[in-house]
Amino acid sequence: MKVRKAVIPAAGLGTRMLPATKTVPKEMLPMVDKPVLQYIVEEAVEAGIEDILIVTNRAKSAMDDYFDYYPELEHRLERAGKEKELEEVKKAADLANIFYVRQKETRGLGHAIYRAKRFVGDEPFAVLLGDDIMRARNPVIGQIIAAAEKYDSSAVGVQQVPDEIVSKYGVVKPEALEDHVFAVRDMQEKPTLAEKFSNYAILGRYVLKPDIFDILEHQAPGYGGEVQLTDGLRTLSAQGKVLAVDFEGRRYDTGNLKGFLEATIDFALDHPETGEWLRRFLLEKAQTL
Ligand code: UTP
Repeated sequence: MKVRKAVIPAAGLGTRMLPATKTVPKEMLPMVDKPVLQYIVEEAVEAGIEDILIVTNRAKSAMDDYFDYYPELEHRLERAGKEKELEEVKKAADLANIFYVRQKETRGLGHAIYRAKRFVGDEPFAVLLGDDIMRARNPVIGQIIAAAEKYDSSAVGVQQVPDEIVSKYGVVKPEALEDHVFAVRDMQEKPTLAEKFSNYAILGRYVLKPDIFDILEHQAPGYGGEVQLTDGLRTLSAQGKVLAVDFEGRRYDTGNLKGFLEATIDFALDHPETGEWLRRFLLEKAQTL
């Protein structure tokens, strides 16, 4: 099996980042000098994906505008000799073949993924959540794809998280197959500490085979009244059709304020234009705290 397509669900309401996200999609908030969504598209492209579907909604047209040309701006930059800026502006539009579909009602991640059925057809596909940025030596989605292709299976990206936060995630019941790769025996969405199968939480990256659509089509709403992808995957895991890959890399959830700030500081520290300045600023600041 070969994974050639990716889906980025980005149609959530972003209520944890209000009021900023009332009119600006959380995926378009700047992570230093690029919107969050660009990092996610770049991760997919680095892993060899060429066709990407973004699931969007009526309040998020800034996302499709961003990956388009902007001739008036480009001419202005060209005339002003601002070559670096021109290159950056055009780069976003040329990253990949990007397609869009709207989720007409915000009915959960599983419902958003179901909107990709026509785009995906009969192929396996990668899923990258629109607000989870990964930093890794090898693109995280590429690590999941490698295991999924090897075992010809759907797969989820996991990492161990501490007890204090495990109840915020989808959690797997793992059985070791090889280093960093597990067969998933069962799954649960946001378990209590007493009920959790393990501390392996699903963190924003998946490879799905198209049999997930038959399940999602009839999936009843679950936690929070939303159609949960984890519930659909649970049915597949009971049939022995899901792997978990304990991936290498750091994941930032930019969909909540603290995660967004952590990512901003780490990315700004590594950015050639801001790194040295921010390091000094933080050290000075630390003296006064
Ligand atoms: P989240 O729960 O992180 O996003 O969903 P949210 O619903 O926007 O966030 P809050 O809780 O209100 O702050 C995980 C992913 O699923 C997408 C989101 O855009 C995010 O990438 N999603 C969620 C959809 O595309 N559609 C939905 O109906 C729900």
